[in-house]
Amino acid sequence: MATTNRISPATDSPLKAVDERPLLVVDDLRTVIHTPRGDMKAVDGVSFSLRGGETLGVVGESGSGKSVLGRTIMGLYRSGPGMTVSGRVEFDGRDVHTLSPRALRGLWGADVGMVFQDPMTALNPVKKVGPHLTESLRKHRRMSRSDAAARAEELLNLVGIPEPRRRLGQYPHELSGGMRQRVVIAMALANDPKLLVADEPTTALDVTVQKQILDLLDRLQAELGMAIILISHNLGVVAGRADRVAVMYAGRMVETASSGALFGGARHPYTEALLDSIPRLADAPHMRLEAINGSPPNMTAPPPGCRFAPRCRYAGQDCAEELPGMTTDDGGDVTKADHLFACHHPVSAGGN
Ligand SMILES: Nc1ncnc2c1ncn2[C@@H]1O[C@H](COP(=O)(O)OP(=O)(O)OP(=O)(O)O)[C@@H](O)[C@H]1O
Ligand SMILES: [Mg+2]
Repeated sequence: MATTNRISPATDSPLKAVDERPLLVVDDLRTVIHTPRGDMKAVDGVSFSLRGGETLGVVGESGSGKSVLGRTIMGLYRSGPGMTVSGRVEFDGRDVHTLSPRALRGLWGADVGMVFQDPMTALNPVKKVGPHLTESLRKHRRMSRSDAAARAEELLNLVGIPEPRRRLGQYPHELSGGMRQRVVIAMALANDPKLLVADEPTTALDVTVQKQILDLLDRLQAELGMAIILISHNLGVVAGRADRVAVMYAGRMVETASSGALFGGARHPYTEALLDSIPRLADAPHMRLEAINGSPPNMTAPPPGCRFAPRCRYAGQDCAEELPGMTTDDGGDVTKADHLFACHHPVSAGGN
């Protein structure tokens, strides 16, 4: 049984500016990747909305579809020979998947920034730090060479890189992992995006640097007011940072709630298991973490019922047969409820 409230819930600061109007609406999004082994339902019916200035944490085990979701929201993954995307992604009133390739490039450069999972793929090893930043500024903002250089220095300063002018003349391999990740974040912020998608921004970094980068994102959000989608396999990373959390399992969103409600009273057994797998400061030094038994399903042939049922200690016959839809505690309107979960036998706030 999961004890509740052991992770501090996000403090919903009254000073934080969150718009009432949604900036991003994702509706029944599906990304089917056509592989030689069959069609893989990497994202399978995900819906949520995000307001300006809000942080959504997307969590789930490796392979649950978090990166594919991020890339599909960005319009980087669209229907073509290799995959089929259906559903809707509306950013600031525009349907991302009907934009022309040119309009889409404009969107990436100016309105949406993405920090990719592997920072080295975002950096060209034979290009100095300076051009990584100035090329986008010159292209999207039509800045002069000297203005772009000044803005690049300002951006490195913003992300906490000491001696920014000197760093602009260095190659990525001359920087530490933490500094490289700061450069990648500076690139994503170059044109003041309204939305930043940060996919595992700290995985390759050691624990102290991880905290520095996450604190940097917090500070940048407070200063710049952008919305953030923070993707992580670790619930501990989004705890205290995200306003809302969405839990993914095998391509589907299985639970979503404001941080306080989720960390205070998870209803989906998978979320409960994820909470049990977070290390706690109070744990004895060599205590084993509670691992989740079994492994996620093959997404080319997922089980017909709840995808988590084969691993779930609470599953009944109904779970194997019928895929649960999103529901609320009071059976109310799922488009308005704060806390949604897809489970036939939800755990209650005090255990099942
Ligand atoms: N381009 C691709 N071609 C084929 N399969 C893919 C492709 N991209 C992702 N997948 C598959 O889709 C599923 C979801 O992958 P995804 O990268 O979104 O997982 P993730 O939740 O981001 O995992 P991680 O925590 O390891 O980053 C996985 O089974 C993965 O192997
Ligand atoms: Mg990923």
